[in-house]
Amino acid sequence: MYIRSFADSNGDGLGDVNGIRSRLPYLRDLGVDAIWINPWYPSPQADAGYDVADYRDIEPAFGTLEDGKALIAEAHELGIRVILDIVPNHSSDQHAWFQAALASPPGSPERARYLFRDGGGPDGSEPPNNWRSVFGGPAWQRITEADGSPGQWYLHLFAPEQPDFDWENPEVRAEFCDILRFWFDLGADGFRIDVAHGMVKDPAFPDIDYPADDALLAAHTESRPYENQPGVHDIYRSWRQVAEEYEPERIFVAEAWVPTAHELAAYVRADELHTTFDFTFIRTAWEPADLRARIQTSIDAHESVGAPVTWTLSNHDICRHLSRFGRPQEHRSADPLHVADNGETDVALGTTRARAAILLLLALPGAIYLYQGEELGLPEVEDLPDDVLQDPIWLRSGHTNRGRDGCRVPLPWTATGSSLGFGSNGSWLPQPTEWTSLAAEVQDTDPGSMLNLYRRALRIRREELVGSEATMAWVDLGSDVVAFDRGDDLRCVINLGSEPCPLPDGEVVLSSGDLLDDGRLIPTDVAVWLRPG
Ligand code: BGC
Repeated sequence: MYIRSFADSNGDGLGDVNGIRSRLPYLRDLGVDAIWINPWYPSPQADAGYDVADYRDIEPAFGTLEDGKALIAEAHELGIRVILDIVPNHSSDQHAWFQAALASPPGSPERARYLFRDGGGPDGSEPPNNWRSVFGGPAWQRITEADGSPGQWYLHLFAPEQPDFDWENPEVRAEFCDILRFWFDLGADGFRIDVAHGMVKDPAFPDIDYPADDALLAAHTESRPYENQPGVHDIYRSWRQVAEEYEPERIFVAEAWVPTAHELAAYVRADELHTTFDFTFIRTAWEPADLRARIQTSIDAHESVGAPVTWTLSNHDICRHLSRFGRPQEHRSADPLHVADNGETDVALGTTRARAAILLLLALPGAIYLYQGEELGLPEVEDLPDDVLQDPIWLRSGHTNRGRDGCRVPLPWTATGSSLGFGSNGSWLPQPTEWTSLAAEVQDTDPGSMLNLYRRALRIRREELVGSEATMAWVDLGSDVVAFDRGDDLRCVINLGSEPCPLPDGEVVLSSGDLLDDGRLIPTDVAVWLRPG
């Protein structure tokens, strides 16, 4: 759950732990078997909680540790596991360790937990190298020493309020194993690992030869000297051992942005992490040949290490997929967030494709993470007024990149009321008025709604595919059609061509849209699950 936008229990406009608790029955009815909660730790919120000031507590604006424990217990009673979000690449600049580092001299053990370096140039006034922050601007910030003199520089790959830890320091490694145990002991079932490809840096800290058109948040077509370094795998081997101390074993899911499926699979080798997000559908246009090829590449790479693929269409960092798929597919930019993609969004087209896309993903072998609101068919909010934007990307890009707020707008639960049932007193980002018709309560009773499509598909998947050995085999129904069997009982067929295609023989189990010609033709952008005849 993107906690600040899920449900607000106390009327401060910000979602919270008790808001999630109040909506657990909704999640059970949706059919999920686990929830991932974005960082809920005490944080000045310079990057919406990804700037953690204390890894062993809960942000007061979100609730208390007792609320968190109650949430874990109640979720477990409903058969829902709880995955927290660990942020190991950097802390907040308000973290006690960073404050101690600022108060201590260069070369001290306190400084050695972060990446402090002397500056370049005759007087140290140049940054130590030319690395850029993922959010824009330089990745180094100069400090003022305790005696008031201009001081060393520290590395922050994200905002200046997010100083990077030095993972060569054994104290940092030990601290994070201890933090994992703290939450595992409280019953957390696992962790999503933020910037899992980060943490370890090339010790030479070499300058980077940046391309002239370097996109914000690197496109990850090649790894930089602070990404995907071989040493990161040793950290995960030790984390795996921590997870295995518990019964039942706890799990990890990595957010690792790496160039190839093969490199991604290295994170889920048998002695490393259990799962890692596969961003295939975020990087692929709605185009059959590319979809087929990339799905197969991911499956092959994961099979080579014996791990399941973890598919996803959207998350809190990326333009919602309904809007991505509703734009001209040939004009997609290299920006991995897709915020700056060209072309008008056709919401109706995006909705049709999003309905088909979820049937595609849910039929694939492996796991899938949904991003809250996709089950309601929410589009990206592309017209948020400038003065409400909060993502640090907006500021640090010099107001050229609007950042990620458009996918973070609080959920509509009811058709009326303050903030459409999100809370009792407004919401931290304004919701579009059209969202009244997308509210969960409206969709609940509409058999044709996106919500009910998700519920039905998740139920069928749970009954027929979860835990099944059914392998996947492509079925050739022409170049415009993506089709495959899962074992003998389920066939998934998606028509991505511009003309209707014939429905293969079999009994239709579920379809993302109405069929044509008395059920004999599948229209463009419609997916069908059927029992092969
Ligand atoms: C998170 C972002 C966050 C960044 C820095 C990402 O991968 O998903 O929301 O801004 O890490 O922590």
